[in-house]
Amino acid sequence: MPKTTLTQLKKPMQHLRGRLEDLQAAHQYRQRRILDGPQQPHQIIDGRRVLAFCSNDYLGLANDVRVKAAFQAGAKHFGVGAGAAHLINGHTRAHHHLEETLADWTGRQRALLFSTGYMANLGIAQALLGRDDLICQDRLNHASLIDAARLSGARLQRYAHADVEALQRRLQATQKQVLVSTDAVFSMDGDLAPLPQLAELTHQRAMLMVDDAHGFGVLGSSGAGSLEHFSLSQSEVPILMATLGKALGTAGAFVAGSDELIETLIQAARTYIYTTAMPAALAQATLESIRIIREDPEPRSRLQENIDYFLHIAKQQGLAIGGRQATPIQVLILGESMHALRIAEQLWEAGFMVPAIRPPTVPKGQARLRITLSALHEQEDIDRLVDALANFIQE
Ligand SMILES: Cc1ncc(COP(=O)(O)O)c(C=O)c1O
Repeated sequence: MPKTTLTQLKKPMQHLRGRLEDLQAAHQYRQRRILDGPQQPHQIIDGRRVLAFCSNDYLGLANDVRVKAAFQAGAKHFGVGAGAAHLINGHTRAHHHLEETLADWTGRQRALLFSTGYMANLGIAQALLGRDDLICQDRLNHASLIDAARLSGARLQRYAHADVEALQRRLQATQKQVLVSTDAVFSMDGDLAPLPQLAELTHQRAMLMVDDAHGFGVLGSSGAGSLEHFSLSQSEVPILMATLGKALGTAGAFVAGSDELIETLIQAARTYIYTTAMPAALAQATLESIRIIREDPEPRSRLQENIDYFLHIAKQQGLAIGGRQATPIQVLILGESMHALRIAEQLWEAGFMVPAIRPPTVPKGQARLRITLSALHEQEDIDRLVDALANFIQE
């Protein structure tokens, strides 16, 4: 074999430039903008005043005075950093109280905090599955669920979006232990998974795990999420994961279910064991968010009114949003990445922040605008957005 000379070897980081250029050429290059100030509909981004329709702070709690006061009081009492993992000495009374409150609210035996939803999803799959197992997922599940399947080493099979019969065929064709996981409200589509049918199908046959990142705090009679909305108990949906950084306005996530599930995660979930606990002040702030949501139906009803109003006037203006459910995530599918990017850019120039979502986050040819609504939007804000959308799309 001929010897490679030193000059023939690629420098260790050289390939990165080429990859970045490929992303740019494919209109998939992502860029960050800089937000000055809190999360709220009218904000300053990159020095420009804009009206934002892209936050997951659906109830406007991220900048709520009561939640901020609870956070400050928490920091005063517990300090800022947790200083250690939950299994060492980072698990404070505030964390424990939050877990008990989450279990009570969701009607589950126990709950366990994780530092992020991404880590919770990784931890669940890794702790519950091994190489001989199977994990079945909706094709449109969030990236963290797909990565969770990869990390677990189990075989991953993806079924067509919301297709319960396709899942049934997969379950019938295997003898393996199976985990079925699904978004409850699909993060890039805004529709609800057929949870009652999934629960019925998996009962006795597979473990069902629901990621309620976008339903928790919003749906259900008390805001406890998609499982409350469909009245699904712990025996029907044994594994619930939800995040705290969206409607609850704070950060972090939790898993709720049986005592055995939670103990298994404490013993085996590496993303739980080998990481610093979230700050206790965040747990205190989250407890306040939960108190507000449970005691005051007003923010949730304002959000619902805004969603209904948006759907109503978008339909009047002939925008193809139809067929979507009344969740805070609404999408306008535009097709090619370039097209979606162009409209998002025009909106930006006109003072709106609405992101273009492109492959690989969504399937090829289905680039879209992802519009999220908040309880803090005024009807006038929504009028302005819909007028701008109608103008730019008809151009
Ligand atoms: C459906 C879904 N699951 C999980 C996550 C991850 O949650 P976190 O932001 O807390 O990591 C997100 C978004 O962030 C999501 O949309």
